[in-house]
Amino acid sequence: MSSKINAAITGTGSSAPKRVLTNLDLEKIVDTSDEWIIERTGIKERRIVEDGIVGTDLALDASKKAMEEAKVLPEEIDMILVGTVTPDFLLPSNACILQDKLKTKNAGVMDIVAACSGFIYGLSIAQAYIQTQKYKTILVIGVEILSHVTDWTDRNTCVLFGDGAGAAIVQPTNDDKGILATFLSGDGSLANLLHIPVGGCKTPLTEKNIKESMHFIKMQGSEVFKSAVRSMGDATERVLKLGAITSDEVDLLIPHQANMRIIEATARRVKLPMEKVFVNIHKYGNTSSASVPIALDEARKSGVIKKGSKVVLVAFGAGFTWGSALIKF
Ligand code: COA
Repeated sequence: MSSKINAAITGTGSSAPKRVLTNLDLEKIVDTSDEWIIERTGIKERRIVEDGIVGTDLALDASKKAMEEAKVLPEEIDMILVGTVTPDFLLPSNACILQDKLKTKNAGVMDIVAACSGFIYGLSIAQAYIQTQKYKTILVIGVEILSHVTDWTDRNTCVLFGDGAGAAIVQPTNDDKGILATFLSGDGSLANLLHIPVGGCKTPLTEKNIKESMHFIKMQGSEVFKSAVRSMGDATERVLKLGAITSDEVDLLIPHQANMRIIEATARRVKLPMEKVFVNIHKYGNTSSASVPIALDEARKSGVIKKGSKVVLVAFGAGFTWGSALIKF
């Protein structure tokens, strides 16, 4: 025991749509192949929402699982933080809609627009509120319905993305565990390498720009790839330094699941063997802010993360944003 208040993850949950879209299914839609997708990305299949399902439905399911594990009632939640770039509405936030679905009574609510880094940004905010003792129970979520902003005629992007949600409950502890350090960063000068060009106030939707598919994700893949490797490696090194540990002491790295080759390059850069890297990209593709919390939940539930394990979460996404968290379980 120590007198210092740490912010610990006391429950996790995840949710993926039932509908599976395989590489073979994609072969029927665009000029691609199962072999190319596996070799260049590591993705075999991804989950896509059924008609009528929205992000807050998946977030609700993931949240209930996390709350059940942490034995948290809705009225005990002080804050709901939702990382998403594919909200149900532009206004109000997903956090507000989720508050109503969960029937929390005392929670502050806000969305975090940090793309694939959204969950780690949320964890960092939660850690600060818990350590300053302002709040005792914070629900952090990453949820995306990327299938709605994907151009299903563009083989450069449509093979990459999927839908899903992951959630975590963060609470105070006096024990020697919890979120030991976080690191956040960003660079807006590279925004146009990965963006949705229209639909905001600068360029509202028009019949013409919708016809030109400008309301879908546009990406310069190889440029994004290089930045992702550099930033995820840097963010991992920075958080290890902040936590005053070396990579030898890391039990598990949970990187954002964007591309198997980015994951392998990041692991090489921080000198971690692939046995210490959690990978589930083959099942879900890139689910943006949901990617890290889904992987964290699977790693915990499968027993890969044990009591005392030191785990690094790291992500990179549109913006660009990137960040990392060092957690002792
Ligand atoms: N099937 C078959 N061929 C494809 C294809 C597909 N789905 N997508 C692209 N290609 C083709 C390209 O048209 C190009 O053909 P060309 O040489 O005749 O022009 C060729 O494959 C190589 O394209 P390139 O973009 O150089 O491939 P790559 O090795 O960089 O892989 C990505 C493409 C998108 C998989 C890779 O760049 C990537 O993962 N980037 C990062 C994406 C990411 O992480 N985004 C989110 C960040 S959070």
